Amino acid sequence: MDLVIRNGTVATASDTFKADIGITGGRVTAIAESLSGEREIDATGKLVLPGGIEAHCHIAQESATGGMTADDYRSGSISAAFGGNSCFVPFAAQHRGMGVIETLDLYDSRAEGASVIDYGYHLIVADPTEKALAEELPQAFARGVTSFKVFMTYDLMKIDDGQFLDILSVAKRHGALTMVHAENSGIIKWISDRLVAAGHTQPRYHAISHPAAAEAEAINRAITLARFVDAPLLIVHVSTPEGAGLVAKARLDGAKIFGETCPQYLFLTKEDLDRPGMEGAKFMCSPPVRDTATQEALWRHLQAGTFSVFSSDHAPYRFDASGKLSKGPDASFKQIANGMPGIALRLPLLFSEGVRGGRITLNQFVALGSTNAAKLYGMHPQKGTIAIGADADIAIWDPEETRTVTVEDQHDNMDYTPFEGRQVTGWPVTVLSRGEAVIEGGKLVAEPGRGRFVARARPDFTGHPGTRTPELDPGWNFGAEIAP
Ligand code: URP
Ligand code: ZN
Ligand code: ZN
Repeated sequence: MDLVIRNGTVATASDTFKADIGITGGRVTAIAESLSGEREIDATGKLVLPGGIEAHCHIAQESATGGMTADDYRSGSISAAFGGNSCFVPFAAQHRGMGVIETLDLYDSRAEGASVIDYGYHLIVADPTEKALAEELPQAFARGVTSFKVFMTYDLMKIDDGQFLDILSVAKRHGALTMVHAENSGIIKWISDRLVAAGHTQPRYHAISHPAAAEAEAINRAITLARFVDAPLLIVHVSTPEGAGLVAKARLDGAKIFGETCPQYLFLTKEDLDRPGMEGAKFMCSPPVRDTATQEALWRHLQAGTFSVFSSDHAPYRFDASGKLSKGPDASFKQIANGMPGIALRLPLLFSEGVRGGRITLNQFVALGSTNAAKLYGMHPQKGTIAIGADADIAIWDPEETRTVTVEDQHDNMDYTPFEGRQVTGWPVTVLSRGEAVIEGGKLVAEPGRGRFVARARPDFTGHPGTRTPELDPGWNFGAEIAP
């Protein structure tokens, strides 16, 4: 064997056991009580986990108004790797007037030669023309881009309900998963206009202008539309108990509805938006951070299985004129870019507060941080688990190491972290991607460009609500084949 990880405690989404892991040719080829290899890593006292899969992050992406994220595929992937990830799936954003294939080609050119870990893209569909629906979405799917994201808000991105149904239908036909940013655009605009007219422009008004009702209405509508055409749908960054409750109910009802939440909704509150001066801008994201009662409710939904994935929604805009303050130091909350960084902290925060805090098991942690994303986004069992034949994408964690979060330790291109000063226990110390060390001894040891594009297969919904036998639903052939 090329490499053996010895004496560690291995955990997958289902089991925890003591074993050595043997790696040959970049894949796991042995799991046994005692192995030896050409090279060995001693993991005594450490946890040996599937590498994280960061399935919601914005990298080298321009917004509809032209602002570019601070991280590109080099810095974004490096930061992700320091946070225990061996694969990530940012967005390839179509803007109006752009073709889908043109969009994918553009993101290929941004990612190639830059990433230190393997990557794919979710396609954001903002202009579902006839051609996009009939020709280009199927071509994207065949190219291994098997998840499409739509927005129900943001004037230059949002689609209407008919367009949403069109996209859901095409996605269903090809076996793709649709993802949605669900907020009611009309409610947000109505309140925002009144707040700004009354001179209420500080960051704290961002939360007031995005009430829980706006999320709940949109999630309810999105689920209704998906169920109407019996298509799978994943609601991203759910931020309210009301929204989570709708996802939970739909799943109980047997619909193929999935949910995602993010660290900011578990660890930050709207009090952070009320910090002095413009500091609150650092904590602006949409949907907004809420309150402590919401945090507790979202933890319960994590425990109960409402959420399949836990993602950072890393949307890095610096706290300067290149990012958050591009419209000046006194910009109104409507003019400040939405989003915050966190790609390196997603897993450490969940481990520290979730696993060490006794809220979730180590196996739930693996499922939420890696395995479920691999399944939903068509990469399992190649990625997301430690099993014979899987890519040797492995993160070795020291469960006892305590650090205080600083912006310098994020290894991204940002000038702040919203989690500055927080104490976190449990850190990834070594990250392997296809058996090659990316992070070792707390240092980057891989070259940008070694990461490969992952042509993803159709999602695997086995065991999830709404799964039907293929015989009863011949339009589906669940997880049976790998996309070219
Ligand atoms: O505020 C956020 N979340 N910005 C990133 C884009 C999105 O909506 O996910
Ligand atoms: Zn979003
Ligand atoms: Zn996002």
